[in-house]
Amino acid sequence: NSGKTDNSAPLFSKLPKKIQDAGVIKVGSDTAYAPMEFVDGGKIVGVDPDIAEALGKQLGVKFQFTSGTFDGLITSLETGRQDIAMSSITDNKKRQEGLDDKGQKIGKGVDFVDYFSSGVSLLVKKGNPQGIKSLDDLCGKTVAVQRGTTYEDTFKAQAEKCGDKKLTIEAFDTDAEAQTRVKAGGAVADLNDFPVTAYTAKTSGGGNDFEVGGAQADVGLFGIAVSKENTQLRDALKEALDAIIKDGSYAKVLEKWNVK
Ligand code: ARG
Repeated sequence: NSGKTDNSAPLFSKLPKKIQDAGVIKVGSDTAYAPMEFVDGGKIVGVDPDIAEALGKQLGVKFQFTSGTFDGLITSLETGRQDIAMSSITDNKKRQEGLDDKGQKIGKGVDFVDYFSSGVSLLVKKGNPQGIKSLDDLCGKTVAVQRGTTYEDTFKAQAEKCGDKKLTIEAFDTDAEAQTRVKAGGAVADLNDFPVTAYTAKTSGGGNDFEVGGAQADVGLFGIAVSKENTQLRDALKEALDAIIKDGSYAKVLEKWNVK
């Protein structure tokens, strides 16, 4: 193995043999989502990598993050290319059961170990020139969103509600691209997880590019996605999570990144 294994770690014995031997847990993640997961100085950093690092201390193995397109992360578990996906992925029934938009079965589905709770909010241009406070304000306009996210689904559902006042949806591989589209004025809003909206509004262009449009809605849970066959890994992760919540290292990560 990679020589990084610490078999004296409290939960090492709970890991599947395959992971013990490999010494690493392979993680698929879309790393254009600051502050949750992003690249800084060539390194993948953020809330999720830091939580993973804390989990790794309990489990005695390293979490090895690889960047991939968000829309393909769950598939990469089915093919065994990654052991888990950790990418601010909202835990929902569609993903648990492997369903598409219309409720048709398209995959095996995954299990989740829930680790974070997040609200949802709109990212709009600084000064909110279009006065966007809610999804209903988007009818007749163009919005940008990351492909394969729960927020693409939210926009699709809103488009149905808008009816004749057509809501045009532009979907991008990364949320960063959707943000750029809003900044350029091609779209009036992007919908994403509150910590990301808040961070982007605060940091982009020194805080002059964006603001949060309206209030946070719909609190949901992020989960670490694990293949349904890999119940031993799932349970080990759950135990490790309980341990880092108990010993305070989880809270330290949220504090460090100012997300709560
Ligand atoms: N929470 C949303 C979802 O699960 C968006 C997550 C996007 N994550 C990312 N790393 N880009 O659909």
